[in-house]
Amino acid sequence: MNKIVVTIDGWSSCGKSTLAKQLAKKLNYVYVDSGAMYRAITLYFIRNSVDITDIKEVEAALAEINLEFRFNEVSQSSEMYLNEENVEYVIRDLVIAEKVSDVAAIKEVRTFAVAAQQKMGTKKGIVMDGRDIGTVVFPKAEMKIFMTADNAVRVERRFKELYAKNPNITIEEVKNNLEMRDYIDSHREVSPLRQAKDAVVLDNTNLTPDEQLKLALGWIKAIKEKG
Ligand code: DC
Repeated sequence: MNKIVVTIDGWSSCGKSTLAKQLAKKLNYVYVDSGAMYRAITLYFIRNSVDITDIKEVEAALAEINLEFRFNEVSQSSEMYLNEENVEYVIRDLVIAEKVSDVAAIKEVRTFAVAAQQKMGTKKGIVMDGRDIGTVVFPKAEMKIFMTADNAVRVERRFKELYAKNPNITIEEVKNNLEMRDYIDSHREVSPLRQAKDAVVLDNTNLTPDEQLKLALGWIKAIKEKG
């Protein structure tokens, strides 16, 4: 079998992007962080004071947004560009995390992002992570992974990441934000976070990044052999 589509969905901060990057590197596939797109849209809305309860305003703002991933040779990873500006760092802020789930729940925002994501996958050879990738974006993907991990482990991992950028952050803030995002992401009307029926569950609470990579590569190998 030639190139396939690999989707990775799951709860916030359970290591989806770590696994997706590892797989893309090993398989020589393109990695797409779909959450970065919702984060960049949120950044644009905040900067331009877009009233997200006004659909006309949302649509007008979306028409002004150009999202693009560009590969950074130095860091060897793809980075998010919003209207030609590298926003990869700023979209990881808690300020964005606090608003992104509300923005990602808007139907027009999802239509905009999903269309762009599907276009990126037309040639296959892609690993995309998010919340609705296996259910909505690529329902026919050959390999679907649904990731999960213990809440306390997820909070700890996310806290370490954010603390490195901002030592004033508290574990309580991180915990509240994760719980809030998981709730909104899994309860929204449009494309809520769900495990696809044909997805394989990967619980990485007690797995190292190497162990989870080995596991996922084994599944992919089996699928390719079945062809
Ligand atoms: O993966 P992340 O934490 O960077 O995603 C940020 C937010 O974007 C997340 O809270 C939910 C939303 N999201 C989504 O609704 N659908 C996706 N495919 C990816 C992310």
